[in-house]
Amino acid sequence: DKGGYRHFMEKEIHEQPDAILNSLAGMTGEDGRISANMSREELQAIDGIVMLAAGTSHYASQVARYWIEGLARTPVACEIASEYHYRNPVTTGITTAIAISQSGESLDTLKAMRHAATCGLSTIGLVNVDGSTIAREADAILPTHAGPEIGVASTKAFTAQLTVLISFAVALAEAKGHIDAARADAIHDQLQALPGLVGKSLKLFDDLRPIAHQLKHARSTIYLGRGHLFPIAMEGALKLKELSYIHAEGFASGEMKHGPIALIEDDLPVVALLAADELMEKAASNLKEASARGGRIILIADERAVNDIDFEADIITVPAVDPIIAPILLTIPVQILAYLTALDKGTDVDQPRNLAKSVTVE
Ligand code: F6R
Repeated sequence: DKGGYRHFMEKEIHEQPDAILNSLAGMTGEDGRISANMSREELQAIDGIVMLAAGTSHYASQVARYWIEGLARTPVACEIASEYHYRNPVTTGITTAIAISQSGESLDTLKAMRHAATCGLSTIGLVNVDGSTIAREADAILPTHAGPEIGVASTKAFTAQLTVLISFAVALAEAKGHIDAARADAIHDQLQALPGLVGKSLKLFDDLRPIAHQLKHARSTIYLGRGHLFPIAMEGALKLKELSYIHAEGFASGEMKHGPIALIEDDLPVVALLAADELMEKAASNLKEASARGGRIILIADERAVNDIDFEADIITVPAVDPIIAPILLTIPVQILAYLTALDKGTDVDQPRNLAKSVTVE
């Protein structure tokens, strides 16, 4: 049942306030504070983490690396599951594997998790489907509560994964004494405000429609982000290519000058992500360079990050947030842009060609 929406994807984009709220509730203890449902000792025993996932779930792991390293001072490696399970990984310093999977059934991720277990790592399954194979086989579970996701392109499961992962980072940081209670509670407050902010950002459909209408003619596009927005750029590019079949590639903004800037030609759409963080000025100057070479910049940004923009751009803003949660909020317009571009182009949004919702083959 699409609940009055045209597609499951549109419905699931709109379900994100609830998906985030419910997933956050799952990471909140009886005292009303963030909790990973693990004892302090269990958390303290986590000294190094390898994250195993595919596709969108892999991008969630890449955002989480910034949070876990930044807040909990714990090293994190992010591995593509299909690569990891055929390697002979060195696990020195790594205690824990976190397998991230919406379905809990991706064979690549399952096999990677089993491989990690045979290497002696303890395993945590971060899954949306209760009772799935990864949920059953993992030593511990961090559940997302996004509800069933039907659209092949992952939307609400991704923002739910990010919600759980930032909460896990805070819980780990507290157990290890790397964060004070005030900062932990401030992040929790921001997360509690997030469903409302996501709700406001859902109004961007109207602003994004004319941009999508143009974007559908592109043969190729570039997505740019720096810091923890780099994985969101890759996720945005994945959404666009799988839904609209337009070639899209996510790059770290600062890496452009090392090669990819050669791709920029007149009117190449460049979807750029910007938050009001310490990388803002550098990231904006990378965009100015892309613009100077003819790129058509579509800027998706925190409203405080657009004041000093001195190049031509279509600007889409989300409400101001603590930069630490910007990757979650900026995901919303990126999803909507891909959805609207596909809609305008007439591709099959809920069932893109060649794709399956749950990939149970290698
Ligand atoms: C992209 C998408 C896929 C999945 C990937 C992993 O929109 O949905 O990239 O994220 O196949 O699936 P799960 O998370 O179920 O293991």
